[in-house]
Amino acid sequence: MTCVPDATFLALLARRLGPKGFTADPRALAPWLTDWRGRVAGQASALLSPATTDEVADIVRLAAEARVAIVPQGGNTSMVAGAVPPAEGGALLLSLRRMNAIRSVSADDNVAVVEAGVILATLHEAAEQVGRRFPLSLAAKGSATIGGLISTNAGGTQVLRFGAMRALVLGVEAVLPSGDRFDGLSALRKDNRGYDLRQLLVGAEGTLGIVTAASLRLVPAVGRRAVAWIGLDRPADALRLLRQLEEATGEAIETFELLPRVALDLVLAHVPGTRAPLAGSHPWYVLLEATAPAALPDPADSLSGVLAGAIESGAINDTAIAASEAQADALWRLRETVPEAERADGPAVKHDISVPVSATPDFLATAISAVERQFAGTRVFAFGHLGDGNIHFNVRPPEGADRPDWIARHGAAVSCLVHDLVGRQGGSISAEHGIGQIRLAEFARTADPTRLALLRAIKGALDPHGIMNPGKLIPAE
Ligand code: MLT
Ligand code: ZN
Repeated sequence: MTCVPDATFLALLARRLGPKGFTADPRALAPWLTDWRGRVAGQASALLSPATTDEVADIVRLAAEARVAIVPQGGNTSMVAGAVPPAEGGALLLSLRRMNAIRSVSADDNVAVVEAGVILATLHEAAEQVGRRFPLSLAAKGSATIGGLISTNAGGTQVLRFGAMRALVLGVEAVLPSGDRFDGLSALRKDNRGYDLRQLLVGAEGTLGIVTAASLRLVPAVGRRAVAWIGLDRPADALRLLRQLEEATGEAIETFELLPRVALDLVLAHVPGTRAPLAGSHPWYVLLEATAPAALPDPADSLSGVLAGAIESGAINDTAIAASEAQADALWRLRETVPEAERADGPAVKHDISVPVSATPDFLATAISAVERQFAGTRVFAFGHLGDGNIHFNVRPPEGADRPDWIARHGAAVSCLVHDLVGRQGGSISAEHGIGQIRLAEFARTADPTRLALLRAIKGALDPHGIMNPGKLIPAE
């Protein structure tokens, strides 16, 4: 049970952090109390913006003594309201946005050491300056912060080749719920001193401590890239094509994204300046990217051979390979603006599921027909990271329905059906967005009791008073 901070406690924090680091002004707090999709709203007693790890440690030590809850926040782009404070108020909102230093970037070590508040796009630029790149990207790259990406174990569009955030974090500096500092930044490639403590903090959604900085893996810069847009009939054809392309190009394929016809239609309708890359319309599309360092052969050569063969054999219907960087960017824009177009279209019942990659086509066929049969008039909008078996399986309410009202009445039942089908495939109800607040009930319903018991045991050991980001990730007993 946490406590509401009194005026003396808040005054103590205000003195320690100064005017740049403390505000209790409701107008300054307001933009940070709601998730970006506007689905969940909370309350907080103050917004704290520390500039150093020492300041974070002081805040947490004081909060631990007073049993006051802390909600860490980065860019507040969570898809599951993981950074929105509880509605009952009393928590301190702790923004990492002022901790935005790039401490070092080493091309020799292939490592960047950055603070939690660094924006993903800024890290991309810093790596580029030394001839390297940070190989994780997503639509929110202009506002998502490194701390948030670590805390949610973010995925994105290059997981196929480089893994999710977990695979890219070499070290972590964090403040634990006691206020103690965990200094784990050394980016050793080998370190066998027991449990992997840094990985405990990746994907922990701020429930085990506050990530203040991280050492991140860099890879060689892209020398050449080939980007293609493909029209085809079935997800199974797409998956067969991916395996063929991998055989032909080695590890060059790093993006393999699946979109239904409706996704392209919505993007063309809602996003200015976009246009259809192929002459006809197709049930499904794939956006793929293959890259290689400058010294290696152009991946476009093997790509075009395989794609030409696939058209000839009828495995795919049509394709457009970008002939310039501008065309490549235009194809990427069609994929990256899907969430924006979907938002403009109106609310839907959203899911972020994963199943074994080979099971994805069957899952899609079964789940789409089950949902549309059981919930008459609904239309499934399923898109995402086919190469990772990760689908954003979104269900649009029937045409003409009051969407928020329909979702309030049927959303839980839709999710139940979708997640039960995911469970039958041995899949996960959260592939890359986390549990936050939005998936909490379904996590509690579907999770194996041993998994929940382990999560609770770890949480209890590190945060015995439950002050760190309460109400997220760990279902109440
Ligand atoms: C994406 O893949 O575009 C993101 O995860 C966002 C979303 O699910 O809407
Ligand atoms: Zn995604």
